[in-house]
Amino acid sequence: MSYQANEKGYYGDFGGAFIPEMLYPNVEELRSQYLDIMKEESFQKEFKDLLRDYVGRPTPLYYAERFSKKYGTKIYLKREDLCHTGAHKVNNTVGQILMAKRLGKNRIIAETGAGQHGVATATVCALMGIECVVYMGEIDIERQAPNVARMKMLGAKIVPAKSGSRTLKDATNEAIRDWINNPLDTHYIIGSVVGPHPYPDMVARFQAVISEEIKVQLKEKENRENPDYVVACVGGGSNAAGAYFHYLDNPDVGIIAVEAAGKGIQSGESAATSALGKEGIIHGSKTLLMQTEDGQITEPYSISAGLDYPGVGPMHAHLFRSGRGEFISITDKAAMDAGRELAKLEGIIPAIETSHALAIFEDRKFKEDDVVVINLSGRGDKDLSTYIDYFDL
Ligand SMILES: Cc1ncc(COP(=O)(O)O)c(C=O)c1O
Repeated sequence: MSYQANEKGYYGDFGGAFIPEMLYPNVEELRSQYLDIMKEESFQKEFKDLLRDYVGRPTPLYYAERFSKKYGTKIYLKREDLCHTGAHKVNNTVGQILMAKRLGKNRIIAETGAGQHGVATATVCALMGIECVVYMGEIDIERQAPNVARMKMLGAKIVPAKSGSRTLKDATNEAIRDWINNPLDTHYIIGSVVGPHPYPDMVARFQAVISEEIKVQLKEKENRENPDYVVACVGGGSNAAGAYFHYLDNPDVGIIAVEAAGKGIQSGESAATSALGKEGIIHGSKTLLMQTEDGQITEPYSISAGLDYPGVGPMHAHLFRSGRGEFISITDKAAMDAGRELAKLEGIIPAIETSHALAIFEDRKFKEDDVVVINLSGRGDKDLSTYIDYFDL
């Protein structure tokens, strides 16, 4: 069995492109060209040059000695927090802005939850001199204020999404609406491995640089390319997809996906899609989705804006259903404690999204000589006020 997308964008039972007719020309234009464009030598050169000189890649693979000692296993951190703009999101926006230019688009729209994807999109738009509109839920605008300020500084227009839970799902709805109304000049830079085909596959390929680097770096440090486990938090699933990508079809590497249990899986306030989700369609893709008996989407909740999404990408739905991935849900409290612990033990303040991945070690035990790579997806600057309020610092 392969864990990559097939040519129709299916990962096992999940994926595809379930879109309104009005969106078909935009999505089809992208679908019919993305692989050929990505294969072009000039595209690859421009992409790689920007990742190196602008984003600051390769990001380090850091052996976290004190954190490892505490949990009795060998823990490496893939430092995506050190990317320009502070998270992995920029790998994808650099790729997609180059794609948009090849397709002749001169206006960019994006959705954002934590604001990291919005900042990464506003950044590459500034770099290329292209107009940028970012949709963001009203609640997220409040809790991720530093990123809102950054986007404004970078010249982007922020449009608040005021419907539903006023978070990421609702911002995505607004962005899709915009795209339907502006089919010719606009490219929609989706920020995760969600949405209709080809987005999940395209975004995973742009993020795959993460596991490409892990292989080389682990060889240098441990004389082996493959860790025993690779761990990442999952909102839509893009940092996880990038960290897993080159290990997906290698059964020797355990894949661990960490979701947000919010106030508890059964509390009615969570974003634990694998535990609670059923098959359904969201934002153009067939996947696992939190929904009521009647198929209405359940409003998600997580303290972290980037994990506050009622679905996961189709790759992750397939990893879950096939049993290839081990899925763990982490509460707000466990995540916040883990974030604080990493700060104290290693001098690294992680994004709250990432803190979920760091929290697995309290319950999930590993062998002493296991090599566990955690994708440190982002830095915690944007979350300082949440940390400060939470711990009453
Ligand atoms: C730092 C960080 N990590 C993780 C995520 C979750 O997104 P994804 O699952 O696509 O990596 C976000 C989303 O905004 C983020 O900002």
